Amino acid sequence: MDKILITGNGPLQGEVSVAGAKNAALPIIAASMLSADPLHISNVPGVRDINTVLQLMSLLGATVERSGTDLSIDCAKVSSVHVPYEHVKTIRASILLLGPLLARFGEADVSLPGGCAIGTRPVNEHIAGLEAMGADIQIEGGYIKAKADRLCGAHFTLDVPSVTATENLLMAAALADGVTKLENCALEPEIADLTGLLTSMGAIISGAGTGTITIEGVKQLHGATHKVPPDRIETGTFLAAAAATRGDIRVLNTNPDFLHHVLGKLEQAGARLQLGPDWIQIDTGGKRCQAVNIHTAPHPAFPTDMQAQFMALNAVAEGSSTVVENIFENRFMHVAELQRMGADIELQGHTAIVQGRERLQGAPVMATDLRASASLIIAALAADGETTIDRVYHLDRGYANIDTKLADLGAKITRV
Ligand code: EPZ
Repeated sequence: MDKILITGNGPLQGEVSVAGAKNAALPIIAASMLSADPLHISNVPGVRDINTVLQLMSLLGATVERSGTDLSIDCAKVSSVHVPYEHVKTIRASILLLGPLLARFGEADVSLPGGCAIGTRPVNEHIAGLEAMGADIQIEGGYIKAKADRLCGAHFTLDVPSVTATENLLMAAALADGVTKLENCALEPEIADLTGLLTSMGAIISGAGTGTITIEGVKQLHGATHKVPPDRIETGTFLAAAAATRGDIRVLNTNPDFLHHVLGKLEQAGARLQLGPDWIQIDTGGKRCQAVNIHTAPHPAFPTDMQAQFMALNAVAEGSSTVVENIFENRFMHVAELQRMGADIELQGHTAIVQGRERLQGAPVMATDLRASASLIIAALAADGETTIDRVYHLDRGYANIDTKLADLGAKITRV
């Protein structure tokens, strides 16, 4: 089991380049299932979740060719619609195959994802939307068994603006018979990107990036070439690490438009930001940040995937702050680990009250989920002494080579 060893070593400085977004690449890969022509995708992140979902695609009969961050997927010969539990339990995002398989083949047999560390992660919105499009769906033995000779266009409003439910329904509607109008869609940038891809495959979609998306179904979709957009959460993670260590870094190959609210919070914390078309410079002037209150909510508000990282920043900032997690019911597991490092955090339900400390103390800690791992790394970089982070396989699911990237910024970090 990989561990990461970090010794607090002062401010991060220099330049770092972010990879393509895991949460954009996953629906893009699922969309390849919608066509018998190949998709050619660039800027694919080398993270574990992508490797896992590509193994699953091959299992279903797709031809997957990869070289570096370039990927081509040919689903012409897909021969199975059965997505087994052992795959789905390791990568919940496999649920994104439900819509495409059903739309292309008229049936799908996808394991219910089950919960994960941060919450029960229901998929009722995915199912309700497909039923609205005429699918017959039975839940049997932990599997979603869906059938539809051809999905029909429908007018469906989501109860909550679920990211992957929006993506599943968007993909299914692209091949449905007639017009689908989806309301209360999630607004995350990855959805506008997926809409762009589907349009380049021949889909007829309007309202991309808004809460109401209208899709005129077509009989079939053709192949396309697409570049995965930059990872806004990896970007935010490096910016928070620079802020916590009173550093000065430039993040390259990113898009400042994707994380406007996070940037505003960093400026509120006292950091000075300069923005370019594809880069962000953060400079703390060597000063300790001010604590900032965080309230997670759907995009464009503060992203839940940045909550743990800002909890670490607040733990070493000046002043007290509240961090309210409104999206997931159990996304505070990093708190107990941060407390082992001396963080002063009190939990009251979905609210954490953080009193900033000048310095945290390095300690042996354990990663519990993807973004909690990032939070522990940030705290360790800003702490005195040595921290050992165990179970870093969580980290590898969503960050490629974060240890070498941080070492290039001056961190004392090794993987053991
Ligand atoms: C996506 O998960 C992301 N994953 C998550 O990133 C991210 O935290 C989340 O969106 C919120 O931004 C991918 O894109 C692969 P949701 P998703 O459906 O789609 C409720 C990471 O760290 N809900 O938007 O599963 C749900 O309980 C991961 O990279 C229903 O009630 O999240 C939650 O409270 C973690 N019914 C809220 O919606 C449903 O059918 C938002 O969940 C679906 C969701």
